[in-house]
Amino acid sequence: MQSQKQSRIVIIGTGAVGSSYAFALLNHHLTNELVLIDMNKEKAAGDALDLNHGIPFASPMKIWAGDYEDCRDADLVVITAGANQAPGETRLDLIEKNLNIFKTIVHQIMNSGFNGIILVATNPVDILSYATWKLSGLPKEKVIGSGTILDTSRFRFLLSQYFNVDPRNIHACIMGEHGDSELPVWSHVHVGSRTLKDLVDVEDQNVQEELNGLFEQVKNAAYEIIRLKGATYYAIAQGLIRLTRAILNNENSILTVSTLMQGQYGLDDLYIGAPAILNQEGLREVIELNLSLEEHVKLKKSGEQLKEALAPFRH
Ligand code: 2OP
Repeated sequence: MQSQKQSRIVIIGTGAVGSSYAFALLNHHLTNELVLIDMNKEKAAGDALDLNHGIPFASPMKIWAGDYEDCRDADLVVITAGANQAPGETRLDLIEKNLNIFKTIVHQIMNSGFNGIILVATNPVDILSYATWKLSGLPKEKVIGSGTILDTSRFRFLLSQYFNVDPRNIHACIMGEHGDSELPVWSHVHVGSRTLKDLVDVEDQNVQEELNGLFEQVKNAAYEIIRLKGATYYAIAQGLIRLTRAILNNENSILTVSTLMQGQYGLDDLYIGAPAILNQEGLREVIELNLSLEEHVKLKKSGEQLKEALAPFRH
């Protein structure tokens, strides 16, 4: 068991992402208690039974289908509830629908007396993380969005294939919106300790085309998977596990999540994906990378797009 401390995680939304994350939690044993909440109570109850029957093959823990009252004693509430993209829809197209769902969810979480950390995974994740922070009244450190954790993982995976190196040795990140305006931070790609410039001729047009193509694959990965099988869930579930471990085990890990910007990168009053240090308090700090001018401009643009998308819903 990796986490010795008594802990409780509540998952809100047991669709494909929520239930994949629940299954991964059972296998990683990151918590002693796991509560499943879904609008469809039968789905949550069925998932709880199904997961309970797997406990003898894993290790003892308590899993049940509960209600919002159970949030009171939770260390971490993970929200995966909401509509997901239909083929052709962007993440930002989901704002109105999911913002309304979140108003009810966050209200009920807070009514329980909850005082832990909320992790938001529903799209558009940057907008909904910001809304959760506002609606909950929790300090910004306690509301974290999964941000570009998955895009970063896709990027590292593709770079690992390009260089034929273990992805764990690829240090690289995608910043900005978890969505179409995100950007690759080429200036901070490291393979082992070598920079991109140490490894390839970055001025070479073929190399540039290959690397641009690689980023296009990252950016369009979700569209491709949705086209193929309707939704994405395993990799985001793994990303949520990584975040859970960083938080519950107080790891001080650096991960690209969506957090509140208050002047960092010249951005203010919005949630957006950037590298940040996470521990049991939630967010410790946002890391300000020394970006290239081009990267900086793209990040600002991405932030502006998020603000524009949210503007009609602010009041
Ligand atoms: C993903 O990137 C759809 O946001 C989801 O897989």
